[in-house]
Amino acid sequence: MLVDGHGREHRDLRVSLTDHCNLRCTYCMPGEGVPWLPKASLLTLDELVELVGIAVEAGISEVRLTGGEPLLRADIVAIVASIAALSGPGGHPEVSMTTNGIGLAKLAEPLAEAGLARVNVSLDTLDAETYRRMARRDRLDDTLAGIEAARAAGLGPLKLNTVLLRDVNTHEAVDLLRFALERDAELRFIEQMPLDAGHTWTREGMVTADEVQAWLSEAFDLEAIPGRGAAPAERYRVRPLGSLSSSKGEPDGDPLGTVGIIASVTRPFCGACDRLRLTADGQLRNCLFATAESDLRTPLREGVDRGEIIRRIHASLAVKLPGHGINDPGFLQPRRPMSAIGG
Ligand code: GTP
Ligand code: 5AD
Ligand code: SF4
Repeated sequence: MLVDGHGREHRDLRVSLTDHCNLRCTYCMPGEGVPWLPKASLLTLDELVELVGIAVEAGISEVRLTGGEPLLRADIVAIVASIAALSGPGGHPEVSMTTNGIGLAKLAEPLAEAGLARVNVSLDTLDAETYRRMARRDRLDDTLAGIEAARAAGLGPLKLNTVLLRDVNTHEAVDLLRFALERDAELRFIEQMPLDAGHTWTREGMVTADEVQAWLSEAFDLEAIPGRGAAPAERYRVRPLGSLSSSKGEPDGDPLGTVGIIASVTRPFCGACDRLRLTADGQLRNCLFATAESDLRTPLREGVDRGEIIRRIHASLAVKLPGHGINDPGFLQPRRPMSAIGG
């Protein structure tokens, strides 16, 4: 078992496969002059499988592949197949992926066959011009095609991730939710965290979960779903407006679907955190906001035994802080932007 110094059991490993991306979302990456990781520092397929295998043996049961954009790895299908075949005390790990969707039209089917269980696709807007403004690239149609391909390949339950930026895409909140409901997908609104390359995030500028809920409540009734466990998202059943105020005390009719709210800043969920992160260059991070990392690549390349890697994982867990500290005075943003940590 992987238990930290605050009694939190860790079951989820988020693995960044690359710091490269075919988009340049403003809240995640610089527009140009990206300080790419040196190529030789990136974990190879064999190294990845070795490290993830050790983590699975030590108690990890869910592996989330992220980036950058994970589909840019030429060996992505082999990575999925190899990780899905690992086993630990709880059997095979569940393998999922968070992606911008662009490569899915081609890869959804082979990835599903290789053992990928589900995908979360980032979708901030349905408008091509807004997409270009937020992602600094013109790829909306590719993302939409990827979402359809994921559905066709049965990569579900499908989730869509939206970061709302004030005066950029805020007016689309309800339309994005309708788009997701029509496709049996769960849309999640994510509060922007201070992980942008330009360090321009401000608390006042950030769209809060309360604001999003107020906008959605003008179009739908939201009914809280209890029992969230360690998940970042608070989930709500979405019902037609007025169906929760029925005189019978029971909601009228079936829900239209569900929506998630990820309020990382205003309602932190660190108390239930069950996540560890491995960067594309083989550094273990005990938190998205950790200021220190534990190098697993060097000992792995030096050929240390598996016990030494497990010892390093436990040592990193032992010093994990109780929370991200974004709301504390003197908070320091991590040195790496989101794209290099792994989303
Ligand atoms: P599932 O619900 O299991 O699909 O996973 P998830 O919601 O953790 O996955 P996803 O990669 O889609 O993450 C969605 C968002 O949650 C990310 O964009 C982050 O903003 C946020 N998030 C994920 N992990 C963490 C975390 O460890 N800490 C914080 N503060 N936010 C996180
Ligand atoms: N704050 C919150 N979420 C972010 N993501 C990327 N950068 C940030 C940020 N600064 C999200 C993306 C994607 C997921 C991997 O992380 O929207 O869905
Ligand atoms: Fe866990 Fe850190 Fe994320 Fe909080 S911010 S949920 S402690 S990884």
